Amino acid sequence: MTLEQQRQLEDAYIMHTFGRKPVELVSGCGMRVTDDAGREYLDFIGGIGVISLGHCHPALVEALSNQASRLMHVSNYYYIEGRGELAKKLSDLLNEAAPEAQRKQWQTFFANSGAEANECAIKLARLYARRKAESRGEARFPRLIVTLERSFHGRTLATLAATAQPVKQEAFQPLPDGFVAVAPNDVDALKRLFADRGDEICAMLVETVQGECGVYPCSEEFLQTARDLCTEHEALLMLDEVQCGMYRCGTYPYAFQHFGIMPDVVTMAKGIGGGMPMGACSAAAEVAAVFEPGIHGSTFGGSNLAITAANTVIDTVAAEGIAENVESVGAYLRERLAELPSVVETRGLGLMVAVDLLDECDAHAITIAALDAGLLLNSTGPHTLRFLPPLVCTREDVDELVERLATLL
Ligand SMILES: Cc1ncc(COP(=O)(O)O)c(C=O)c1O
Repeated sequence: MTLEQQRQLEDAYIMHTFGRKPVELVSGCGMRVTDDAGREYLDFIGGIGVISLGHCHPALVEALSNQASRLMHVSNYYYIEGRGELAKKLSDLLNEAAPEAQRKQWQTFFANSGAEANECAIKLARLYARRKAESRGEARFPRLIVTLERSFHGRTLATLAATAQPVKQEAFQPLPDGFVAVAPNDVDALKRLFADRGDEICAMLVETVQGECGVYPCSEEFLQTARDLCTEHEALLMLDEVQCGMYRCGTYPYAFQHFGIMPDVVTMAKGIGGGMPMGACSAAAEVAAVFEPGIHGSTFGGSNLAITAANTVIDTVAAEGIAENVESVGAYLRERLAELPSVVETRGLGLMVAVDLLDECDAHAITIAALDAGLLLNSTGPHTLRFLPPLVCTREDVDELVERLATLL
């Protein structure tokens, strides 16, 4: 089938929720994907931060092929291989950078996407606050969740309510209530909010590095203040690491570990499955304890293929020194991008990077023109390009990107 025929079929039979680029991708290997005409592209979007090990990493292909031939899904009514091991690995990774006194046991709920992982966190925060109030004989319990302006937490109704972007929310009102947004990194505004409404707040839900709006890391001061205020008001600090977690920011498994804080709940998805749909919400065991059988669930969450994928991703990252690669190649990527004449600002950590371009540069048009230059690129705003390449990206890949991008700018 030609690209044009595929396009016509999709136009007729698929809901138009994405503006697709005119290319049909059929295979991939490492940093590269190939289209139906045999043209190769260097992939600097990595399935929107999903393809952590690179396309079709042999370890992942082998593990998934073996698992697919043995058992794919049996439901959460039964024990399966690897799930407990994976949850224990996540608990260890979440504690990795913490001093002994802050380490704790984490328990995880496995979901299928970032939005679902965040739904789990939202439900957990409300239930935890309710149970605590009940145990004290209080009739009222705090329900408000503090989010950040410009945030992105998903497309389900509750995660859209948490996504403080009025343009995305407007068409779907009324949304679930109980969310309030403050400006990112505005420490005084956060303190004022807690001073005014602290007794209503059950949690904060924050992307450690905001992704969809163009890669804006939280400041250490802001995160530390959030930690202190949540502790003081018995609210949960919940970090959305769907995009910035799983080694995306280099050195550590999670972005928050760059900032010396310890959250109560962490959500993840994207890179954890390396291409298999997967989400996870991990919480301190004391918090997770409010979930009892029947209170939350998922048919597919944590089933055999996803568990196999995540175990393989985590083991391969360790075996191949990928975290160190992210750190060094990420620094090189930011350095090289900053040299380009049309780049006015470079932001990010590890291999989660964005550049703002001069006002006369149309970022979306550049992502289209990039196809002819053999590049897969992504824009997050009229003048902003975001880079989320596979974590196995090399300096040579960065050189190739910069050389080709220079011709487009
Ligand atoms: C920070 C963050 N949270 C949540 C989501 C939603 O994840 P999903 O699309 O897997 O539902 C995304 C997706 O881009 C994200 O970047």
